Amino acid sequence: MQKFKYPGLVALAGFIVWLSACRHELPISGNTGGSADTTGSGTGSGSSSSSGGGCSADTVYFVQSVLPLLTSSCAQAGCHNGQTGGDAGDYTLNTYAGIRQIVQPGNAGSSRLISITSSGSMPPYGYTALSSDQIAMLSKWINQGAANNSCTASSCDTTGVTYSKTVVPILQTNCTGCHSGSAPAGGGVDLTTYANVSTQVASGKLWGDISHSTGYNAMPLGGSQLSACDRSKIHAWINAGAPNN
Ligand code: HEC
Repeated sequence: MQKFKYPGLVALAGFIVWLSACRHELPISGNTGGSADTTGSGTGSGSSSSSGGGCSADTVYFVQSVLPLLTSSCAQAGCHNGQTGGDAGDYTLNTYAGIRQIVQPGNAGSSRLISITSSGSMPPYGYTALSSDQIAMLSKWINQGAANNSCTASSCDTTGVTYSKTVVPILQTNCTGCHSGSAPAGGGVDLTTYANVSTQVASGKLWGDISHSTGYNAMPLGGSQLSACDRSKIHAWINAGAPNN
């Protein structure tokens, strides 16, 4: 016991020093950028360039695809959330400005975001590596110019939703960075298997959490709420009996 007393104090002292050094950053959540178009949490000031005409199926939108994936996979508490000391604190991956620092617009091949995720170095051991589809999506966004773009479809089709084609991709983009087998950031809740997801559905917590209902834990933790369309799709799937289809 004696042995641990000292390092503990040193760590505490370090923490206090860090707290005072970074105090100006602490109250700012999800937005460490100073300028108007660098906010990360959903404001997406740059809205779609295709306004009026809906979203282009061939365009990767930062606000809808890139930001939620990196927020849930990289910016958990203690990681790249802009409020952490040490190495992780050098990178803030829940804002456009922070993410922009590790990408070369137009050149996925020389972007650190791509090399570090495709080598499997990040997310680190204990977390689930990004899938090749997710890395391809990030590469495409970078090659399309890595813009702070956003597009919300004007209509939402909730017919024909299935677990595998609709629910799983939403969970992979927004949730499983924290909620996968050994990931330490999801409070022990795994959302990568149908059995586990359906348990959360049956308890009412899946819907309670994503709809941000009173008395539930608002999910995704620390990120923006799922879009109204994604919520409607999950709701339709739950109403259909949450089948494993
Ligand atoms: C940044 C990490 C993180 C992300 C991203 C995240 N969660 Fe969580 N989630 C947690 C933590 C931590 C807990 C445990 C909360 C507690 O016990 O207080 C939790 C708990 C839960 C639970 C268990 C019930 C409860 O409320 O305790 C469900 C269900 C859940 N999350 C669903 C989701 C869904 C769905 C998403 C994506 C839309 C998501 N979470 C995204 C961290 C995260």
